[in-house]
Amino acid sequence: MSRSKKHWGVTEKMDISVNTAFGLESLAKRECEKLGYVDLKAKNGRLLIKGGNFDLARLNVNLRTAERVMIVAGSFTAMSFDELFEGVKAIEWQYFLNENAKVTVTSKCVKSVLMSARSCQSITKKAIVEKHRQIYSTEPTETGEEYKIECSLYENVATISIDSSGEGLHKRGYRDLSAVAPLKETLGAALVLLSGYKGEGVFADCFCGSGTIPIEAAMIANNIAPNINRWFAFNKWKNFPDRDYARAIEQAKSNIKMTKTEIIGRDIDADCVKMSLRHAKRAGVENAIQFSRADMRDYKSVDGGYLVSNLPYGERLSGDMNALYTDLGRMYARLNNYNAVFLTPCMVFEKLFNRKAVKKRKLFNANIECCLYSFTQLKNYQGKR
Ligand SMILES: C[S@@+](CC[C@H](N)C(=O)[O-])C[C@H]1O[C@@H](n2cnc3c(N)ncnc32)[C@H](O)[C@@H]1O
Repeated sequence: MSRSKKHWGVTEKMDISVNTAFGLESLAKRECEKLGYVDLKAKNGRLLIKGGNFDLARLNVNLRTAERVMIVAGSFTAMSFDELFEGVKAIEWQYFLNENAKVTVTSKCVKSVLMSARSCQSITKKAIVEKHRQIYSTEPTETGEEYKIECSLYENVATISIDSSGEGLHKRGYRDLSAVAPLKETLGAALVLLSGYKGEGVFADCFCGSGTIPIEAAMIANNIAPNINRWFAFNKWKNFPDRDYARAIEQAKSNIKMTKTEIIGRDIDADCVKMSLRHAKRAGVENAIQFSRADMRDYKSVDGGYLVSNLPYGERLSGDMNALYTDLGRMYARLNNYNAVFLTPCMVFEKLFNRKAVKKRKLFNANIECCLYSFTQLKNYQGKR
C-alpha cells in the first residue's frame, strides 16, 4: 500500500457496503453473486463485500436493484458521544479524503443508546475536522470535491461510510420526464427479475406509464448494465483512479449482447406512450420494445410470456380500481402459460383478480406499503416461493 498510504487507502481490499431497499436484499445478493462476489455478508439492509477501486466502480455500474454503494471507513461500538467522537477520529481519514475535501455528514440511529441523529451528525463532523487539524496542522478549507459521509447507528454499533454513488442508483439517467406515480428504476428492475424473465418469451407491461418496467426488461434481456451512462460521486474524487472506472465501463460494454426480444409496453394514455418511447431512446433500447396506446382489457397474446406491472391504485391515481382489477383477472384468465407479477397496495387484490398468488412479498413504493403478487399458469412452476 505504498502509493495509497499518502492519501488514498482503497487500492487495497476495503469494505464495500451495497445498500438495498427493504425487501430487495436477496435480489441484490443474487446480483452480486452473479458478478462473482461470493463471500458476502448480509447485515441490516447492507451486503458487505471486500474489494478495491475496480470493484467499487463495477458494483455501481452493474447493480440493478441496489440503492447505493458505500465504502465502510470504520465500524465500532458507540454508547456515548465520547465513544462516537473517538471512534470517528481514530479513522485514518487521510487515506480516504483529500486535504481540501468538502465533507457533509448525514446520520441515522436505530435501536441504540444514542438516538439523536442530529447530535451524531455534528459529532461525526467535529471528529473529522479534529482529525484534519491533527494530520495537517491547519483548519480544513473544504474547497475541494464533496464527500458524503454517513454515520449509521444500529444496536449501538456505529458504521461510518463514504457514499461512492452520489445520486441514488435508481437514477439511471434515461428518465427525464415523469408520468403519474412512476416507479423507481431499481424497483422496476426488481419486478422484472422476480417475474423470472430472462429475455425469452413475450414480456408485457400493459400499464407502462413512463416506460420504466419495459426499459428495465430490455436492459436485462440484452445484458446492458443499468448505470453504464451516468456519473458517480467517485468520478469527482481526485484520488480515484480513472483507469478502474474505465475498465468497469469497458467490461460492461463488452458484456452487452443484443438479442431479439418481444417486449411490449402499453398504456391507455397517449402521452405516457410518447414519454415511454422517449425514455427508451435515451436508454438505447427503443428497438427492443413495441410501445402502443391500448386498454389493458384488449391484451391478447400467443402462448407463453410474462405480464409485469405497477398497477394504478387509488391513493395515486383516480378511477374505479376494483372494476379494473377484476377485468385484469379476466384478461389474465384468457392467456396461456403466463407468469404475472403485479405491484399494488390493495390487500384484497387476489379476491378481485379471482386467483390465489403463488407468492406475496411486502415492498415499499415511494413509502407506500405495497404487496407484490406473483401468479403463474405454468404447470410444475419452479419459481421462488
Ligand atoms: C402506476 S402507473 C404506472 C407507472 C409506471 N410503472 C412508471 O414507472 O412510470 C399506472 C398507469 O396505468 C395506466 N392505466 C390506467 N388504466 C389503464 C387501462 N385500463 N389500460 C391501460 N393502462 C391503464 C395509467 O395511464 C398509468 O400510466
